Order: sequence, then C-alpha cells, then structure tokens
Amino acid sequence: MRIPLAAGNWKMNLSRDEAIALAQAIKEQASDSQRVDVLLCPPAVYLDAVCKIVEDTLIGVGSQDVFWQPEGAYTGEISAPMVRGMGCSYSIVGHSERRHLFGETDEEVNWKVKAAQQNDLTPILCVGELLEERQAKQTDKVITRQVEAGLEDLDADDVLNLIIAYEPVWAIGTGEVARPDQANEVHGLIRSILQDRYDTSISNGMRIIYGGSVKPDNIAGLIAQSEIDGALVGGASLKADSFLEIIEGCA
Ligand code: PGA
Repeated sequence: MRIPLAAGNWKMNLSRDEAIALAQAIKEQASDSQRVDVLLCPPAVYLDAVCKIVEDTLIGVGSQDVFWQPEGAYTGEISAPMVRGMGCSYSIVGHSERRHLFGETDEEVNWKVKAAQQNDLTPILCVGELLEERQAKQTDKVITRQVEAGLEDLDADDVLNLIIAYEPVWAIGTGEVARPDQANEVHGLIRSILQDRYDTSISNGMRIIYGGSVKPDNIAGLIAQSEIDGALVGGASLKADSFLEIIEGCA
C-alpha cells in the first residue's frame, strides 16, 4: 500500500513570523495520521525553525533544493549534510523552476539526487514537460529522458528511498491543473519506466505525486486516480486552511 504524501513547497515566500505561524498551525491541526504523510518545504533560512516546531510529530521537513558537493567554496549553496544536520528528511530536487530559471541540467539533477540519498534525505525528483513540448506531443519523450537521467546509477535499494513528482510546467502557478486522467497517464508512464529499469515490486511500491495548481477543490479528482499518490503543492500550501484541506483530501 502506498501511503499518500501531501507536500507543501513554500518556494521563496513568507516572512519568518509567517513561516513559523504556518508551521505551528499545520502542526496543531494536521492530525498525526497514518493515512497520509505530511511534508513542509520552507525556504532554507527557515528550515531550522520549522524542524524544531514539528520535531515531535510525524510531519516531515524538506529543503527545496540541495547542492551535490558536501562542502567547499560554493558561495550561496547548501549541502545535503547541512540540510540533514538541521533535521530534514527530504529534499526536492530538479524542480522545474530550478531547471528552467536557473539552468539545472538532467545530469546535475542526478548528482543532487545521489547527494541527498547519501545523506539520508529522501529526494523528491521533479519531472515535467513544457507547454510547447506537450503541444508537440513530446511529453513521453521528455518525461522518459528526465526520469532515466534522474535515476542514473541508482539501484533497486536506492529508489525505494525516492519519490517522483510529476509537475507539468504549464500547470505550475498558472491555475491550469492537468486533468486527472491526463496526469494519471503520465504517472502510468513513469511507473512503466520504473518497471523496466527495476521490477514490478519497485514500480508498485514507489510513490509518484502530482504537482501543478493543486487546490482544495481539485485534489479529490487527482487522488482518486490509480497512479497518483499525493501532491506537491505550491501556492495553496501557503495558507493553513487550504493546505489542511488538501492533506485531508489526500487521506
Ligand atoms: P503550484 O506549484 O501549486 O503553485 O502550481 C506547485 C509546485 O511548483 O510545486
């Protein structure tokens, strides 16, 4: 049984006080349920504070990115040992904003996946096609390339500690959510890639979550799909009420 995951990606939003208040509200109101895993991904500068707030709960904390080197002269970067040291257990890797605004390549995303895993962080590997790629019927090709490259060098044991997020770039922050059946189709493709690379028990066991304009009013349709195991939520995770509704919807 795949336990659904509701992950909030706060991106570069919220003041320190707002971030603390949001984490506290989620802690108080999200019941410690075995039916859904809850994850908060605040900006790196608030990771410490958010980890302390939720430390005695089942709520997980993750970074929004991680650098592939453990230490050194890389001004501005944050390493996996540092993220782990703060108490995080996850890291988002290869988010489309990193790929498209900051030029992250498939190869770099793979290095980040490996750095996260080597430091006991569960990577959430994000993949997704651009609008023009979908229109040119390149979705399958792009997703296959991103998944294969992201999982390069990872054996069966490694992928058990990994989550894939399908986030069509045209649906992120645009209010245009993918139709549940559209998303499910791509999730099915990803599961078949996993089956080919590994085996059925791995492909059936791995969680593949959807991201892109997930809101309280569309989560039910998405989570009802056979291949969708939760949501990576941006805008709607910035308000406790809407994120709590999405958590409930995932459960
Ligand atoms: P959104 O962002 O929910 O605001 O579309 C999702 C994401 O980028 O993870």
